Amino acid sequence: LAATGAAAWSSNEEKRSLALGGHVGFDSLPDQLVSKSVTQGFSFNILCVGETGIGKSTLMNTLFNTTFETEEASHYESAVRLRPRTYDLQESNVHLKLTIVDAVGFGDQINKDERPIVEYIDTQFENYLQEELKIRRSLFNYHDTRIHVCLYFITPTGHSLKSLDLVTMKKLDSKVNIIPIIAKADTISKSELHKFKIKIMSELVSNGVQIYQFPTDDEAVAEINSVMNAHLPFAVVGSTEEVKVGNKLVRARQYPWGVVQVENESHCDFVKLREMLIRVNMEDLREQTHTRHYELYRRCKLEEMGFKDTDPDSQPFSLQETYETKRKEFLGELQRKEEEMRQMFVNKVKETEAELKEKERELHEKFEHLKRIHQEEKKKVEEKRKELDDEMNAFNRRKVAVETLQSQSLQATSQQPLKKDKDKKNPALGIMV
Ligand code: GTP
Ligand code: MG
Repeated sequence: LAATGAAAWSSNEEKRSLALGGHVGFDSLPDQLVSKSVTQGFSFNILCVGETGIGKSTLMNTLFNTTFETEEASHYESAVRLRPRTYDLQESNVHLKLTIVDAVGFGDQINKDERPIVEYIDTQFENYLQEELKIRRSLFNYHDTRIHVCLYFITPTGHSLKSLDLVTMKKLDSKVNIIPIIAKADTISKSELHKFKIKIMSELVSNGVQIYQFPTDDEAVAEINSVMNAHLPFAVVGSTEEVKVGNKLVRARQYPWGVVQVENESHCDFVKLREMLIRVNMEDLREQTHTRHYELYRRCKLEEMGFKDTDPDSQPFSLQETYETKRKEFLGELQRKEEEMRQMFVNKVKETEAELKEKERELHEKFEHLKRIHQEEKKKVEEKRKELDDEMNAFNRRKVAVETLQSQSLQATSQQPLKKDKDKKNPALGIMV
């Protein structure tokens, strides 16, 4: 009976609402969450993209009301270089680990490349993914370096966006929350600024560039966010200089003809930017980074590695199954490669063997040829020797004959002295015999 009851309970999707008899205490969950977050601290990472000297550092200093870094970038950087710097900030009891990443050298004549920026953003995603995939993960105290927002500084030309701006923003929009801002807005007149803003927005739309939209799904901030969405791109002025206006010291830029107050909403949109970026939507920017941009990166990366959630028949496919399939595929491939290598080795050995045999045959032929020549030569030499021997024999025979004759004639001479005189008169006679 109990088993049937359990089955009925688990198959029943509906949940029953029950009233509590008294205070239980789980209404403190949000407070527990706040307390935990405060203890843990927060991290926020801003990427500043804009040409050298556009006012990035000044704006960061103005936004966080402090002095981060004052060093200027050179206009002669050989390539775009991403320079991250991390700071520990504290406001009340909230700790913020803030990283400001500067795209140094961007927009200068020779190094207009957006690729290092894309690579940097991807590397931070990859680092996070690698931490997530570890068996022993420590995401709790992991320093998350993923970029939460990209402040894109537009030069206040009053004209139109540069193609570099459009290309860069298009490359970045699926990887990061982009908030475009018109920098040094005090250098452009009010009417020009109005036209410039409209032009920028229409260019972004016609080029399909997705910029960050302040969220309107949370009732508490829906109204302010939708109003602010209409004000994009914010035209800002940065300054850490304090100027006396009335009897108050305010951050402003002083000109011979007047003072531009940074925090005066009729002078520029600095307050709007600070409100939207820090005071209202910082958490949404962090969340969007994780749930949208990182999720996309993670999905593409895992799919690239061959993982998928469903098989070809759209049936759920677990990580374990993918692993098994991949392992089988890998082993099969390995076996195929091994067989291929073995075959290649056998063929090579055969080829070498045939080559060696051919060489041996050639050598043998050469040897036979030389042997034949040698025998012929030897035969000729033998013949010559025989001829010479014959000649020598004939000569010797003649020599013996001559010697015999000579001795005979000598004998004859000694026996017949008279005849000797006669012979002397005719010596040719002796030789003739
Ligand atoms: P690099 O880091 O060298 O690329 O420069 P950057 O973009 O950080 O610019 P930085 O903040 O160093 O400012 C460069 C110059 O522009 C300084 O002289 C600033 O005083 C001036 N500047 C900054 N913000 C503004 C602004 O809103 N309006 C005007 N008119 N000048 C500004
Ligand atoms: Mg700077």
